[in-house]
Amino acid sequence: MFQHLLLPLVILAISPIPEASEDSVLSPAHEELEDLDCGHPELSARIMGGSDARPRSWPWQVSLNHGGSHICGGSLIAPSWVLSAAHCFVNNGTLEPAAEWSVLLGVHSQDGTLDGVQVRAVAAILVPDNYSSVELGADLALLRLASPARLGRAVRPVCLPRASHRFAYGTACWATGWGDVQEKDPLPLPWVLQEVELKLLGEAACQCLYSRPGPFNLTFQLLPGMLCAGYPEGRRDTCQGDSGGPLVCEEGGQWFQAGITSFGFGCGRRNRPGVFTAVAPYEAWIREQVMGSESEPAFPSQSPGLQSGSWELKDENCTIALPECGRAPQPGAWPWEAQVMVPGFKPCHGALVSESWVLVPASCFLESTDSPPHDLDNWRVLLPSRPRAEQVARLVPHKNASWDDTSDLVLLQLRAPVNLSVSPRPVCLPHPEHYFLPGSRCRLARWGSSGPASGPAALLEAELLGGWWCHCLYGRQGALVPPPGHPPHKLCPTYREEEKENESSWSLLCQEEGTWFLAGIRDFSSGCLRPRAFHPLQTHGPWIGHVTRGAYLEDQLAWDWGSEGEETKTQTCPPRTEHGACGLRPEPAPMGLLWPWMAEVHVAGDRVCTGILVAPGWVLAATHCVLRPGSTTVPYIEVYLGRAGAGPLPQGQQVSRLVISIRLPRHLGLRPPLALLELSSRIEPSPSALSICLHPGGIPLGASCWVLGWKDPQDRVPIAAAVSILTSRLCHCLYQGILTPGTLCVLYAEGQEDRCEVASAPLLLCQTQGGSWVFVGIALQGSRELFATTGPEEAWISHIVREAHFLAPSGSLYSPPEGSNLCPLDMAGASGSSSTVLFLLLLTPLIQD
Ligand SMILES: *[C@@H]1O[C@H](CO)[C@@H](O)[C@H](O)[C@H]1NC(C)=O
Ligand SMILES: *[C@@H]1O[C@H](CO)[C@@H](O)[C@H](O)[C@H]1NC(C)=O
Ligand SMILES: *[C@@H]1O[C@H](CO)[C@@H](O)[C@H](O)[C@H]1NC(C)=O
Ligand SMILES: *[C@@H]1O[C@H](CO)[C@@H](O)[C@H](O)[C@H]1NC(C)=O
Ligand SMILES: *[C@@H]1O[C@H](CO)[C@@H](O)[C@H](O)[C@H]1NC(C)=O
Ligand SMILES: *[C@@H]1O[C@H](CO)[C@@H](O)[C@H](O)[C@H]1NC(C)=O
Ligand SMILES: *[C@@H]1O[C@H](CO)[C@@H](O)[C@H](O)[C@H]1NC(C)=O
Repeated sequence: MFQHLLLPLVILAISPIPEASEDSVLSPAHEELEDLDCGHPELSARIMGGSDARPRSWPWQVSLNHGGSHICGGSLIAPSWVLSAAHCFVNNGTLEPAAEWSVLLGVHSQDGTLDGVQVRAVAAILVPDNYSSVELGADLALLRLASPARLGRAVRPVCLPRASHRFAYGTACWATGWGDVQEKDPLPLPWVLQEVELKLLGEAACQCLYSRPGPFNLTFQLLPGMLCAGYPEGRRDTCQGDSGGPLVCEEGGQWFQAGITSFGFGCGRRNRPGVFTAVAPYEAWIREQVMGSESEPAFPSQSPGLQSGSWELKDENCTIALPECGRAPQPGAWPWEAQVMVPGFKPCHGALVSESWVLVPASCFLESTDSPPHDLDNWRVLLPSRPRAEQVARLVPHKNASWDDTSDLVLLQLRAPVNLSVSPRPVCLPHPEHYFLPGSRCRLARWGSSGPASGPAALLEAELLGGWWCHCLYGRQGALVPPPGHPPHKLCPTYREEEKENESSWSLLCQEEGTWFLAGIRDFSSGCLRPRAFHPLQTHGPWIGHVTRGAYLEDQLAWDWGSEGEETKTQTCPPRTEHGACGLRPEPAPMGLLWPWMAEVHVAGDRVCTGILVAPGWVLAATHCVLRPGSTTVPYIEVYLGRAGAGPLPQGQQVSRLVISIRLPRHLGLRPPLALLELSSRIEPSPSALSICLHPGGIPLGASCWVLGWKDPQDRVPIAAAVSILTSRLCHCLYQGILTPGTLCVLYAEGQEDRCEVASAPLLLCQTQGGSWVFVGIALQGSRELFATTGPEEAWISHIVREAHFLAPSGSLYSPPEGSNLCPLDMAGASGSSSTVLFLLLLTPLIQD
């Protein structure tokens, strides 16, 4: 599914990050030439200050057009022959007709008048028999022109290497083309031919880079006949639209074509140099095709000195490039933190994303992006470890900044680039397909102009919630959850700001392999048990890359997806999440987790009771289970979440907390049945732990109900038994006189009566028609049929646990019977034997359903 990253470079080109290079003076033409003069551009020197090529510096470069559009590059190797890549012409295994193609020679800019440009029809396209697809090699093609090109100042052939020709590793060669300047970023007008200097990489060095998992954890096996050129650190490369174009190297004043642009994994990515078809191994094939034609390419022999000397150079060591962005000496000391000072506005916090560009929220100073301010002279940017403030040269607002919170961004260009070092250092930006793994370690950084000087939140470490959770906590019922590799709508760290800090604004930094990514911006929260959510930045990667041409978009570095990575089924959100994050259960359950709110309560190290998470820091349990009769000392209690599934979560994802206090409601002289356990710290919503909803009385109308407990105290895989709830009258009659208010009776479905052991105090849960799970009660001591409900304790629970989520009352309230005289005489003392109850049920339709 991720193969789309392996890209044949049709419509490809060069991602030229201009770099100064010494002027080279070509020596006069050599005597060694064969019949055809090749490899001599007219210009004897070039200035490499930018990425635009000078006219006539690459006179063999041609543009191959199909239907009037540039599709691929190629090189003139003889007046009637052009060399290119097979994949430009082979579509779904079929060679496209030569008549549909034309060749443009002597083109510099593809825009405007094509003065001096020669156009030739294609008489034949020849492709090796065994070419099948780019990654299997033999990606070359010969085009025979319908009429020969006129050689001149702007149109000249390049020299071809013989099979014995050796290009030394490390040689600086040049690739040229009209392809994209970055991934999915086409060459802008006026479409001037681009050039980029690329170093030849040895086979071992290149294979070493490609053996390390890169984008989408892909690795690649180089084949004979392929050649790599580029840099381990990336950033200079060929890209879509450059395919078929030449990679040329100069030897003794003569230019030889070492490679044909073939494919890449993205463009300019770290440790993913471009892959070319090596030309030398195909000498025989080329000679065979052109044999007997009126003009043949030149294969000058390599100067003996060059061949015997440098090519035998030992292959380089395996040098992996490490990310140049996102390293921080310690969390919180962000070397990319930028503070923008604008007269009349509060200081605004943003992030350095390259040598020259700072990303900040547009809302700091833009009322509307229609009229961005032009008085940038007084703007200043403070960067860490810089003695003076930087000046601002340009401001580029995001088109949608003024109306779309998720695009509240502006890029500021500094007047002079800063030297990058340990500090300042840019933050890494994610590509659109980045998948921040659930459980990623994240922190917050200041963002924008509001908020206190510093907050404790900056020091808080938060884990990222899985996509399903984050999406569904905020999403709509039945919404499709974006799968890994698609930009999420939101990112949620397991972190909630305190109410009083509601005005501070943060960006979300997430760490992979020690490298920090700017993952999200502009947090927001709608309270109600939901974690903070951030707008993901990854969708803006292309815009930032397009504007800055040098921001550090970095590949994903962590690939340990665990079982979630294999989840290919499209997931949808359960209904009714908009009421808050209580009572959710993933459908289908990832990792087999079924009961994310069910807690294992370990009392004094020996007893185990069920408990239920009612809020991030609170578990409700049966009093009789956590307090021994007669004992007044509070026992040592631990609570575990993430274990209550057919397949419990891996240990690392289980959560445990100590109980620091036990709260009981006041009950006149009686020991109350329900106890609230206060945990040593909050447990934020995650697949391991999610709060359940509570019900203020009775059971929700139309709900289906289950008793949840353990059959076997040893393995403790939860067992759920379907039950019906008896009406209060029937219940009261069965247990005449012994029931306290709020006690419910259940009737087990046939054969399910003894599914749960009683000692651990099983739970009574119902799923509402809307899909939310609601906690109704806990079994009374020693009973399977009688449950103490939360209804009568609503006020007490709400008072102690502010975040406990009671659903709005619905269904029938379970009120105590009006009078015992309504009971049939023979029922008293029947005491819940199910045969008696069944008998009664046959007589009267009493079951609430
Ligand atoms: C590719 O070719 C196969 C068989 O030759 C054919 O079934 C398929 O439809 C073709 N696909 C396209 C996109 O043309
Ligand atoms: C194609 O055939 C040539 C000559 O038979 C061989 O050298 C080359 O390795 C083959 N390439 C592929 C991709 O099979
Ligand atoms: C490769 O690494 C070895 C050991 O680190 C070193 O001795 C050698 O000089 C290196 N070779 C090159 C070409 O850098
Ligand atoms: C701006 O918003 C429109 C409409 O939602 C969207 O189509 C477009 O892609 C957005 N522009 C950018 C640069 O994100
Ligand atoms: C950057 O560093 C180079 C050499 O280290 C130095 O010559 C240059 O002045 C520095 N530029 C700035 C803007 O500090
Ligand atoms: C922040 O909280 C205060 C009260 O604590 C409230 O008045 C204000 O509206 C809140 N601001 C936002 C943006 O929610
Ligand atoms: C990533 O690739 C490596 C090597 O191919 C493999 O061992 C590892 O399991 C892969 N990881 C994932 C998450 O696919």
